[in-house]
Amino acid sequence: MDDIRNNLIAAIDIGSSKIVTIIAEVSDSDDHISILGYGCAPTQNGIKDGTIQNIDAVVAALKKSTETAEIQATYELGSIPNIYVGISNTSIETINSTGQVAIPGDDKEVRIEDINRVIGNAQAVDLRDGREILHILPQCFSVNGGDWIKYPLGMVGARLECRVHIITGSTATSQTVLKSLERADIIAKQLVCQNLANAKAVLTDDEKELGVLLIDIGADTCKVSVYYEGTPYYNCVMKLGGKHITGDISQALKIMPNNAETIKVNYGVTDFNYVDESEYIQVPHVGGREPKKLRRSELVYVIKPRVEEIFGIIRKDLADHNMLDKMTSGVVLTGGSTMLPGIEEVCQEVFGVQSRVATLPKFDGLGEFVQDPSYSVALGLIMWGYDKMKEDGCFDDVSSEKPKSNIFQKIGEFWNKMF
Ligand SMILES: Nc1ncnc2c1ncn2[C@@H]1O[C@H](COP(=O)(O)OP(=O)(O)OP(=O)(O)O)[C@@H](O)[C@H]1O
Ligand SMILES: [Mg+2]
Repeated sequence: MDDIRNNLIAAIDIGSSKIVTIIAEVSDSDDHISILGYGCAPTQNGIKDGTIQNIDAVVAALKKSTETAEIQATYELGSIPNIYVGISNTSIETINSTGQVAIPGDDKEVRIEDINRVIGNAQAVDLRDGREILHILPQCFSVNGGDWIKYPLGMVGARLECRVHIITGSTATSQTVLKSLERADIIAKQLVCQNLANAKAVLTDDEKELGVLLIDIGADTCKVSVYYEGTPYYNCVMKLGGKHITGDISQALKIMPNNAETIKVNYGVTDFNYVDESEYIQVPHVGGREPKKLRRSELVYVIKPRVEEIFGIIRKDLADHNMLDKMTSGVVLTGGSTMLPGIEEVCQEVFGVQSRVATLPKFDGLGEFVQDPSYSVALGLIMWGYDKMKEDGCFDDVSSEKPKSNIFQKIGEFWNKMF
């Protein structure tokens, strides 16, 4: 077996249409991330609506995707202890909960143990059978009923309260993912909710502070996240995605879904401003008949209503959860389906706030090859892993044995355990 490489991180994003693997080398001395290899393999109907339906197909896709990345990076996953796997499924639910504890000791100073206890208290929520907590994300704290603050450590008072955002999921779904990974000989360090990895990759601190809506439109699902005052307030996964757009094209033009997919990817457009009225495309016919000519702008009539509907359903869900006033800095879009020209405008019309397709973080090495919006989750997983490594101080040298020296590292260690 290869030597263990603590300075490498692998990200595996299990999507409905494809599994993406990225292997990156990181250095703590200069905050440098370099992409050494990436792989991408279609899931071949192994996953539907973000949930594994055919484990053999998923294992095959996992092997193909990871092997491609391994060959390029010249490192095997077996030598990488930091493997983060992005999972999504429509079973994800979120709860905003609160906790409260008394602060012991004569000095009444808030210590790490008190923060741990209050978060433990806040996470004591009733979970239905078959569900488990995936992430606990502390939002803010209050000492003695005072203002809500981010860092209560060292403050003095008799009572500590906290608010947390809890993401839960179906235990069976996580187990199936772990089973698939095991059969592909992959040992994950952590399963990460794709919404969180995505946010890590593309949202700025300012956006999160002011309030922002992040939507990833993949093949079968939309991952929806709202950040406000620097922390997540809402996360969900909906069964809406690019496959519905492909289905509409297939029906409208009376063509096979694979041909509709090709037309969507090559010529799809959601706004007349992005298409020349004189442009025509060839539409293949079933039964070996001659292809027919179609004005490309006609695609707007098919695609735009579906995209409007997708955003409309998300808007309604956010309204139902009182989230619409929490997106002051607008909407950020990721996912393969956001490559449709004009999608930002449609989003803007539906939500009434500015919208942009995300700018992905640019890394060295092969970074330029993983720049389209469908790679955002995988890149976010690398960044997630990098943050965890910094917090743990576990890089590839003796420094990993050094004790934590300052309070920020201690806090980092604490957050790491929590998330
Ligand atoms: N240029 C393009 N224009 C429009 N749609 C595109 C384009 N390229 C890819 N897509 C669509 O993007 C979708 C795949 O996106 P992505 O890779 O983000 O999904 P996924 O991660 O596999 O699925 P999910 O996130 O739903 O589990 C497919 O529906 C595909 O048709
Ligand atoms: Mg995806």
